[in-house]
Amino acid sequence: MKLFRATLLAAAVLCATSAHADDKPLKVGLMLPATGTYATLGTAIENGFKLYVDENGGQLGGRKVEYVKVDDESDPAKATDNVNKLIKGDKVDVLVGTVHSGVAAAMAKTAKDTGTLLVVPNAGADAITGPLCAPNIFRTSFTNWQPGYAMGEVMAEKGYKKVVTITWKYAAGDESVNGFKEAFEKSGGEVVKQLNLPFPNVEFQALLTEIAATKPDAVYTFFAGAGAVKFVKDYKAAGLMDSIPLYGAGFLTDGTLKAQGGAGEGLMTTLHYADELDVPKDKAFREAYSKAYSTPPDVYAVQGYDAAQVLKIGLDAVKGDVSKTADIAAAVEAAEIDSPRGKFTLSKAHNPVQDIYLREAKGEKNPMVSVASKALADPAKGCRM
Ligand code: BEZ
Repeated sequence: MKLFRATLLAAAVLCATSAHADDKPLKVGLMLPATGTYATLGTAIENGFKLYVDENGGQLGGRKVEYVKVDDESDPAKATDNVNKLIKGDKVDVLVGTVHSGVAAAMAKTAKDTGTLLVVPNAGADAITGPLCAPNIFRTSFTNWQPGYAMGEVMAEKGYKKVVTITWKYAAGDESVNGFKEAFEKSGGEVVKQLNLPFPNVEFQALLTEIAATKPDAVYTFFAGAGAVKFVKDYKAAGLMDSIPLYGAGFLTDGTLKAQGGAGEGLMTTLHYADELDVPKDKAFREAYSKAYSTPPDVYAVQGYDAAQVLKIGLDAVKGDVSKTADIAAAVEAAEIDSPRGKFTLSKAHNPVQDIYLREAKGEKNPMVSVASKALADPAKGCRM
């Protein structure tokens, strides 16, 4: 009987060890757009993530990394099914995604409910590090509020008084404009009109006619990916570029200047990344990324690279045991992340506290003009952890 008990005990210990054994591959669920308006953003994030993993011998937290991929199509209606498929069907250990705020909010809700580790490598939905914040959810990008707020201060300082905003009607556009408006109106400016169109619509003509008729001092905008390419080209073709200065969150010109074919020349934007930064980590990253993928990196590639860095920091602290959420969170919260954008930390709500750069588009690059906002932290309204 004693021998039987001892054997049972030994078997139980073996099972418990192998349940989160270090030598089991780490299944990473990459939920990113591979088609549609944000497809190129998804590719850059995946490339950046894989570059970091490859630089670390294909491992994170001592476990060999395996990928399971889902094209989320930037479609919020399919998001919950897609994320459940990864968690329940593929049994991933970690979720990485995504680009679109509406899709990412659904991912965050499911991650919060199930306790699955989630790293958000782009989507800026304020709620993810606000009411939806959780010990197992981390973001390596920004809140939509951050670049918008920084640009509100810049444009007020430039002396603009009346501004029209134009964006897609969903969380990213709304929150970017809210951030801009908060800072701009605090300094005495006025947003005289807020123009919107549904995501991912690119029929801008009627709204450009309205901008021309309103004659504001300037325009603030949030567009990204293929929409940003078309918007900048249309703005220029409408003859507005010289008469009504255009400004935006940096997604307007990051990774899009080549496709804009010169239409974006001179545009000033705010973002947590810029070209030609005097950051040693950036130089090494740009070289390695360009060599691996035969194309220069953009902000999305940086955010993907940093998502893998954050995972390594957390998983190294627990020897790859993803169930140790509190220890992972403690390690990440204490870390300084050596990012190509410059070093940053994560706030208590797990969003980057980071410099926001003012950039000016030159050729196919967005070099820094100045630091618009030093160590800008999102207010993380509604986050209780
Ligand atoms: C968003 O949906 O949060 C987003 C998409 C593209 C670029 C930036 C933000």
